[in-house]
Amino acid sequence: MKKIKTAVLGYGRSGGSLHAGPIEKLEQFEMAAVCDIDPQRRTLASERFGCPVYENYQEMLEKERLDLVCVITRSDQHCKMACDCLNAGVNVLVTKPWAANSVEAERMIAAEKKSGKKLLPWLPARWGSDLRRLKELKNAKAIGNVFIIRRAVSTFSTRCDWQTEKRFAGGYLLNWGPHIVEPPVLLAGGKVKSVFGQLRQTINPGDTEDVFIAMITMDNGTIVHAEFTISLTDMPSWMLQGDRGTITVEGTKLTMITNVPPRPVESARMSKTVAQDNKTTVETLSADLYGDAYVIYREIAAALKGEKEFPVTPEDALELSRVLDAIRTSNAENKVVSL
Ligand SMILES: NC(=O)c1ccc[n+]([C@@H]2O[C@H](COP(=O)([O-])OP(=O)(O)OC[C@H]3O[C@@H](n4cnc5c(N)ncnc54)[C@H](O)[C@@H]3O)[C@@H](O)[C@H]2O)c1
Repeated sequence: MKKIKTAVLGYGRSGGSLHAGPIEKLEQFEMAAVCDIDPQRRTLASERFGCPVYENYQEMLEKERLDLVCVITRSDQHCKMACDCLNAGVNVLVTKPWAANSVEAERMIAAEKKSGKKLLPWLPARWGSDLRRLKELKNAKAIGNVFIIRRAVSTFSTRCDWQTEKRFAGGYLLNWGPHIVEPPVLLAGGKVKSVFGQLRQTINPGDTEDVFIAMITMDNGTIVHAEFTISLTDMPSWMLQGDRGTITVEGTKLTMITNVPPRPVESARMSKTVAQDNKTTVETLSADLYGDAYVIYREIAAALKGEKEFPVTPEDALELSRVLDAIRTSNAENKVVSL
């Protein structure tokens, strides 16, 4: 079987672990080259894979015959690098956030169409064990009709790197939004109708937000509340409210309480309204809350071999970029933004 000759562009924290692991281990791939401007990272890659390493990705594109480049550099660099790879006739995987905004996302889609190659957005939370199980429970109406979905990630830690600066497309909305905003929107189903967002910079250094809160109304009426917050711990990562119960997720622990509230015969007459027959079930989800990179890379291989479509399309990722842009605009103008 012909291996997919793959290069990692940006052999940093994520490129050197999350992506390099499956490329190195899965039989469908061959690590054909690594590019990083940092000489220490190049030395580490050269020692690990024994493949050619480059300081300049244009030189790598000229010298290597690649099937796939995985762009895992800073978030401000993705669009130009992805377009350059596509223009050089190479398929591209782009980590999240695939673009700094929807203008860049459209530019990448145009480059993909012109090239005839594949542009694969990396949105691993779509494969998350929490989202997979919540979809099953929602589809089975385990808690009746779901009308509010809350999704949150909280931390009591700070960070001090390029992700705290706007010029590098830092900030939690861009860099965590794909994990936090997209999954509940997908779970709610339908299209985003409007957005109200608030961003704050509270503790982290730099000049971009370390907190975001978004209230999203779907066209089917479901309310999605998505949030990244600093200086807070132990917040459930999901809270779903249905008209027959509730689900919370804390780490890998999913708790579902279902009940049958009594139905008063007349709206104006006082009667017993407390829910009866509460039933609590607790289950443990698998640890792949942000997806299993090996599973996703197998899907990438299948897509590149033409065996099946990759489950995330560039249009899906563009839709997410538009929602993230709308949250930012809503905060800047302090108003609800309709999509
Ligand atoms: N779960 C996930 O999917 C996940 C997790 C972490 C990070 N990320 C994303 O991955 C991207 C990288 O994040 P990170 O934490 O690995 O950053 P990082 O700073 O650790 O790595 C970036 C690497 O790119 C290199 N680089 C910079 N400019 C370059 C250039 N011109 N040519 C070649 N290499 C260059 C740097 O030297 C560095 O090694 C970000 O967009 C981030 O949001 C995704």
